Amino acid sequence: MRLLIGVVSVVVLTALVLTLSCARQEEEVTLMLGGAPAELDYWEEIITEFSATTGIPVELMRQPADTDQRRQSLLIPLKAGESDPDVFLMDIIWIGQFAASDWLEPLDAFIERDGFDLAPFFGDIIDLADKYAGRTVAMPVYIDAGLLYFRSDLLTEYGYDRPPDTWAELLEMSLEVQAGERKRNPGFWGFLWQGAQYEGLVCTFLEYAVSNGGLLVDANGDLVLNRDENVHALRFMRDLISDHAISPPNTYTEMKEEEVRSTFQGGNALFERNWPYAWGLHQAEDSPVRGKVGIGLLPRFEGNRHAAALGGWHVGISKSSNTKNAAWELVKFMVSREAQLGFTLRLGWNPARRDLYDSEEIAEQAPHLIDLKAVFENATARPNVPYYSLLSRALQQKVNAALAGSIEPRQALDEAQQEALEIAERYGRH
Ligand code: GLC
Repeated sequence: MRLLIGVVSVVVLTALVLTLSCARQEEEVTLMLGGAPAELDYWEEIITEFSATTGIPVELMRQPADTDQRRQSLLIPLKAGESDPDVFLMDIIWIGQFAASDWLEPLDAFIERDGFDLAPFFGDIIDLADKYAGRTVAMPVYIDAGLLYFRSDLLTEYGYDRPPDTWAELLEMSLEVQAGERKRNPGFWGFLWQGAQYEGLVCTFLEYAVSNGGLLVDANGDLVLNRDENVHALRFMRDLISDHAISPPNTYTEMKEEEVRSTFQGGNALFERNWPYAWGLHQAEDSPVRGKVGIGLLPRFEGNRHAAALGGWHVGISKSSNTKNAAWELVKFMVSREAQLGFTLRLGWNPARRDLYDSEEIAEQAPHLIDLKAVFENATARPNVPYYSLLSRALQQKVNAALAGSIEPRQALDEAQQEALEIAERYGRH
């Protein structure tokens, strides 16, 4: 009898443990995203808060900050149809391809079921980036646009009462301040920007080109990578490094967002091109440049307009997820007013919710975002074509080779144009 009771208890216990662990497996949501270390720490905090209020456990799968590396590490599980990660952040430029590959769960049924209101979000961004074949496949978490950061203390010290409006002014200020500062800091540079061979280089090239009246795709949808304005802009980028030497030689070998941010944050540069996220980190308590940084528009070439590349990160649910309901709860939380306010106040991210720009909290604690709202609304998107990743790779290689001085800018863009046309042709677009 004792033996029987023993056996029964073991069976019951095992069944209980199995049921519990299955329920847990069903419930636990895995979230994959990357960023600067301080940003990932903040994600841990907000996930803990989400789990405490909903009872849904979340596991964070950490990725690096570089967008190309993030894409690679996501492609592996998505292609294999693995159930994890359930939820992930996507760069605005990946969404079309992910949706076309049928990796994204459409969100419309959840949106309708919960009467979830899309009105507070930037509708144009949702239409541009989050819809595919008439379905909503993602939601915006934050919007990026390229900005100029400057050391306001140094500009004042050297007698400048405003940041540069044109590239020529940026060059002039950089040359003077760099020469002066090098007496105390030999590693000081005028201007840091992203020039390594990766996606960020397409963004910076686009900004120089558009601020010179150039463009990548014309009004008819034709690729025009080698326009004269673009060639001139690329020559200027190269000269910042080689002729004027206000940007370091490792611009084209190493400089991505985090390299640029940390060098500037260490007090080693006058100007920096970066996305809004750098603001929160520059103002952190342990930052050497805290309280000495201003933020504004990227300069333009004389007679042309200011330009900023449109970037940003969006959240989606994997079609292979086996916890879609819980995943949707997490998505709703990530785009909620409360979470987005936290991202903005703690990390300086630019919210994807329009309603936050009218909030008292942002007016008091992040007024610069309100001043920059027009920059986000007028930012220039990268070409929205299904073969974007191939086009980007071709352009990155050629532009980077021109920065390194191994090919002339004119030839670099002629070759990029040729390659891009071949890629487009393979996709039956031209
Ligand atoms: C930022 C932008 C993203 C862009 C990337 C390039 O993360 O949000 O859109 O592709 O930088 O490095």
